[in-house]
Order: sequence, then structure tokens, then C-alpha cells
Amino acid sequence: MDAIAVQNLHRVFKANVGRIRRQTKEVTAVDDISFTVQPGELFGLLGPNGAGKTTTVKMLTTLLLPTGGSARILGYDVVTQADQLRPRIGFIFGGERGLYWRLSGMDNLRYFASLYHMEPAVTKQRIPYLLEMVGLAGRANEKVEGYSRGMKQRLHIARTLLHDPEILFLDEPTIGLDPVGARELREVIRNLQSEEKTILLTTHYMFEADALCQRLAVIKDGRIVAHGSPEALKQDVQDLSVVEVELFGVSEVILDQLRAQPYVDTVSVENRNQKQALFIQSPRGAEVVSDILRLLDGTRIGKVAVREPTLEDAYVRLVGGDT
Ligand SMILES: Nc1ncnc2c1ncn2[C@@H]1O[C@H](COP(=O)(O)OP(=O)(O)OP(=O)(O)O)[C@@H](O)[C@H]1O
Ligand SMILES: [Mg+2]
Repeated sequence: MDAIAVQNLHRVFKANVGRIRRQTKEVTAVDDISFTVQPGELFGLLGPNGAGKTTTVKMLTTLLLPTGGSARILGYDVVTQADQLRPRIGFIFGGERGLYWRLSGMDNLRYFASLYHMEPAVTKQRIPYLLEMVGLAGRANEKVEGYSRGMKQRLHIARTLLHDPEILFLDEPTIGLDPVGARELREVIRNLQSEEKTILLTTHYMFEADALCQRLAVIKDGRIVAHGSPEALKQDVQDLSVVEVELFGVSEVILDQLRAQPYVDTVSVENRNQKQALFIQSPRGAEVVSDILRLLDGTRIGKVAVREPTLEDAYVRLVGGDT
């Protein structure tokens, strides 16, 4: 049986727009997505802001009703069997509060355990075990207010594991963490797999999905635009090279001219402080650099480099546009 089976899942939001004459506008956040996740698998849902990741996770965790399609988790329908399903899943949403900062990490877990009516005999062993698992054993008696964001996020994970759910939903677990905190958290997530948990993780970062997930779906404007292993997605860009140009202000007109070149596959721009990085994916690599520079004539440019594509480039190609 699939751990998660999603079939044509759909969600429309009605938003009020217009201040004088009220009108309702429909936003399709999730547009007929289908995928399955196998037991014990770490599956990634990857996509840019507003792609529909959180909306999907909310429907799968019974927090939001779908407006179409269906989803089964461990065989339970998320709408009609939500009560049976809830005790068997755990979830965390990025940047979530929900911890008691005046209490220690240990006391937070004790508090939530009593809230869930867990047997004291069970929690006596389980809490130290979980604190150890998320790397907080040495800091368990300190107040949470003194924890780093990464430590708080790891405590959230311990909290959501209290009732030993079979499936975990992690919505952007590393958001807002510094690189070290994010790396430590990824380590914890990886270790959860040895606990044979099924995990669905959402992220903005291709490299994070690459580092953690066995399979992933890339979602854009509520639709799945690619689906498979990170290796399979890399295959997609294997024959391209990336020309990277440092710029100081570039016009849309020039970008459109670049996009129109027959040798150009994808153009994207990333803003970096005062400057921009322009990425041009092309099957012809170094030989097109002089032509690109000719098109950029009149634009102030810095460093220019040609490199092999990464999984990040595959992602940019799939979701397109400027980052
Ligand atoms: N309660 C709501 N009412 C109206 N529109 C909503 C609501 N929640 C989400 N949306 C819209 O649905 C779309 C998908 O949003 P969602 O939060 O699922 O995206 P996301 O992929 O999680 O993005 P992010 O990476 O920013 O977290 C967006 O256009 C968003 O504005
Ligand atoms: Mg989100």
C-alpha cells in the first residue's frame, strides 16, 4: 500500500478584492496534482513562493479541505477518515511558534506529552530518547528562550514525534536557519529515515531536496512540472552549460533579446546586493560567450564564467523566471 496517494487534488481559494465594489477572485492554489509516496520514503515537494506546497501539506494533514480530488494517507481518506488519520501523522510548519519559551526543552516535551494524554511510563523513556535523537540531550534542561532557531526547530521535530507518528510532514523545516543550523537539521531529518518514518518535506532549495530526498515533485502554479529522482532531474540538463555573467543593472529588453537567441535555453537573473547574476543555459557553452557579451554591450559587467549545470539549474529551468 502507498503511504501517501494523492489523486487530482485541487484547492481553490476565494479572495475578496476591490474596496468599493466587492468582488471575489478565485485563486487556484493546487491544480489537480497526483503523486504517491512509498512507506519509508523521503519525498520532496519543491517549488517557488506561492507554488501551492503549504496548501497541499495542509490538505494532507487534514487542516484544510480540498475543493476537488482525493488523498489517502496510510489508506485513510483525508476528508472522510480524518479522525482515524490524525493520531498517525505528525507535522511542522516552518517558522512555527507553539513552544513555551519560559520552559526548558525537556519540560516542553513533558507538557505536550500530558496534553496528548500519554502514559507517564512511556514518556519517561521516550522524551530522553527523542531529545537525544534531535541532538538536544545536552541542552534539555535549559530554557527554550536561549535556544538558537535551529535548536527550536529540532525541538519542534521532537515534539511532533512524541506520539510516534508513522508519517511526518515537514513544511520548509530549514527556513530562516543559518547554514550550520540548516545542516544540523538536515542531519536529524536524515536520521529519521533510519526510524523508518515516511517523510514528506517541502523546500525552496533544490540542493536540499537533492541531499535528502529519494524522489521529488517540482510544483509550480499548483501543478507538478517534474517528478522523479534527483538523478533523473539532473539528466534533464546534462547536455547544457551555464554561462554566468555578473552585471550592474540590466534591462528587460536585453533579457528578452537574450531569450530570443536560438542557442539560449533558459535565462534567469538573481539579485545580489548592488549587482545581479545572469545565468544563461545553452547547449553550446563557451562558444556563445562572445555573442552574449555582444548583446550585453552597453551594460556594465563584471566576471564571466562558463560551468557545468547543477541540479539548481535543472530547477530554474523547470520553474523558469527570475529568482
Ligand atoms: N487562505 C488563503 N486565501 C487565499 N489565497 C491563498 C490562501 N492560502 C494560500 N493562498 C494562495 O494560494 C497559492 C499557493 O500558496 P501556498 O502557501 O500553498 O504556496 P507555497 O508553495 O507554500 O509558497 P511559499 O513557498 O511562499 O510558502 C498562493 O497564490 C497563495 O496566495
Ligand atoms: Mg509555504
